[in-house]
Amino acid sequence: TTVVADTGDIEAIKKYQPVDATTNPSLLLKAAQIEQYKPLIEDAIAWAKQQSGDKAQQIIDAGDKLAVNIGREIVDIIPGRISTEVDARLSFDTEGSIEKAKKLIDLYAQAGIGKERVLIKLASTWEGIRAAEVLEKEGINCNLTLLFSFAQARACAEAGVYLISPFVGRILDWYKASTGKDSYPAQEDPGVVSVTKIYNYYKAHGYKTVVMGASFRNTGEILELAGCDRLTISPQLLEELSNTAGEVSVKLTDQGQTSSPGAVMTESE
Ligand code: E4P
Repeated sequence: TTVVADTGDIEAIKKYQPVDATTNPSLLLKAAQIEQYKPLIEDAIAWAKQQSGDKAQQIIDAGDKLAVNIGREIVDIIPGRISTEVDARLSFDTEGSIEKAKKLIDLYAQAGIGKERVLIKLASTWEGIRAAEVLEKEGINCNLTLLFSFAQARACAEAGVYLISPFVGRILDWYKASTGKDSYPAQEDPGVVSVTKIYNYYKAHGYKTVVMGASFRNTGEILELAGCDRLTISPQLLEELSNTAGEVSVKLTDQGQTSSPGAVMTESE
């Protein structure tokens, strides 16, 4: 399993040395509080003011530029790829998503970062999947996020997307809220069950789309899904894992990689 850091925090990325990193607007907002990102924010605002006289457009442009400014810092210290998200406003707009993805790729290119170092994160709505299908054909690889169901996963694979981020924790959150049950053993965690089913289906049918479990709430879920292609993990859970005695902590210090027997990935479709 390839370990990915689910954060825009450069210090955490330096500490845990993941292969890839994933960001989203809320993670970037959190990361933007870091002192060393202040010049990146100023640059993004100044750039946005040059692009348009319209205040609303300036805010959107500054957000895109900041995402790329932070992404560029991260790419400099990871061997793999940075995921940068197309904002949720465009989740039901195929053309708008394609346009925004290309804008982000252009901003990265202007910063000297090639598209092979970037994944464009799009919501796994019908419109997002159609946008990804077009972008993939143009050589822009995508990470389909907000993926909660088998149907979304299958549609992504058939559209030829590079990577999916099936969520674990938000499925668990929903089950907890709707059943009133406040804990699930990791093996019965509905988010874990969902990702396992998707992973096994992909492998049984030879889909090339990478499966990256996301949205974790506890280390039990992560350990249960060890063996998945990639897992994107918050700094807090990476810290907890690195403090776990024994084999797991050894694996996590092995250049950011784990090698796992993939115990749960054996169930057939
Ligand atoms: C990763 O790609 C997702 O944006 C992230 O894991 C979502 O996690 P959350 O459910 O904790 O917001």
